[in-house]
Amino acid sequence: MGLCSLLCKFTRRAKYVILLVLSLSLLAWIAMFLGETGKPLLVLSATAQTLIKEPSLREKLASSTSTPDHVNTPLPIVECPQKSPLLRGALNLSFESSLKLTDVESENKGVTDGEYKPPDCTARQSVAILIPHRKRERHLLYLLHHLHPFLQRQQLHYGIYVIQQAGDATFNRAKLLNVGYLEALKDYSWECFIFHDVDLVPENDHNLYVCDKQPKHLVVGRNATGYKLRYKGYFGGVTAMTKAQFLKVNGFSNTYWGWGGEDDDLRVRVELQKMKIVRPPAHVARYTMVFHKRDSGNEINKDRMRLLGRTSLVWRKDGLNSCSYKTVSVERFPLYVNITVDIGKPQR
Ligand SMILES: *[C@@H]1O[C@H](CO)[C@@H](O)[C@H](O)[C@H]1NC(C)=O
Ligand SMILES: *[C@@H]1O[C@H](CO)[C@@H](O)[C@H](O)[C@H]1NC(C)=O
Ligand SMILES: *[C@@H]1O[C@H](CO)[C@@H](O)[C@H](O)[C@H]1NC(C)=O
Repeated sequence: MGLCSLLCKFTRRAKYVILLVLSLSLLAWIAMFLGETGKPLLVLSATAQTLIKEPSLREKLASSTSTPDHVNTPLPIVECPQKSPLLRGALNLSFESSLKLTDVESENKGVTDGEYKPPDCTARQSVAILIPHRKRERHLLYLLHHLHPFLQRQQLHYGIYVIQQAGDATFNRAKLLNVGYLEALKDYSWECFIFHDVDLVPENDHNLYVCDKQPKHLVVGRNATGYKLRYKGYFGGVTAMTKAQFLKVNGFSNTYWGWGGEDDDLRVRVELQKMKIVRPPAHVARYTMVFHKRDSGNEINKDRMRLLGRTSLVWRKDGLNSCSYKTVSVERFPLYVNITVDIGKPQR
């Protein structure tokens, strides 16, 4: 037993020794093989590297050869930023009596036929500004003088339309605005409309002339009212509605002749459609109202309260769908399109 155990121990140890020797010689053989084939291996890895590099080289070549193509085809223009970098906030407005239309034209070389597009980005909205007008050339000049640079700083694609009432019949602001909407859409598929009084000049370019998900009232305050809302629910002066919002309410009523009521009528129409009027903050939505006397032909509409009482009954058949007029002329000046229309006279 003693001898056997001794012998067994020895053979077990010998097994280990043989195993060790064998593995050592295997390692030595591998080392030798690597030594001989070292060079080709390096070459192999080098070609692998160039193989990896090759696509990027090809890319480089492709991009350098395709550069002339980029020059020939116009670069895709990016959308204008959410907030224009050109905005300046509150402005110091001037109303120089020496100002001439030719001055304003030379200050706005980028505008043709009343239309402008930002040169290096695609505007976020295409906006038509509609200004009802009659015999207020001085006010129109001041407004154009401030409004063009104002809209350009907002990086908008815009067009300015002056809708001039022909003849001497009582003025009808609302019907002129309906006409402006219908006529402007013949030029371009404007997505947003700004209904703009001629005597209100915006003071702060953070008051954005774009449309919202809801109809927007832009005049919270004016210097003539101590910059306070004239009354709760006031929806006059300057308002913004999308093409769809205005269509939904069937536009303005055509039946308000003389001053007042038509803006309240539009508010009622908006409310009947369960839309909600939104306003920018008061410190931004400020206007200067250029002084003037009440024009002859635009006397206070004494009938306005009676008309307002029946809006909910008649809005479906009194509006855009019943707006009949005769276009007298369409003149395309550098700074605005002048649409002169015969809209008839009050039926009394
Ligand atoms: C605005 O203009 C007035 C008169 O020209 C001037 O006194 C005032 O300093 C100006 N304000 C600003 C902020 O430029
Ligand atoms: C508002 O400002 C304009 C322009 O400076 C001026 O003509 C007008 O008289 C002012 N209105 C009031 C009520 O201060
Ligand atoms: C618009 O055109 C009519 C008709 O030619 C003209 O009488 C009027 O003065 C023009 N108005 C403006 C603001 O250009």
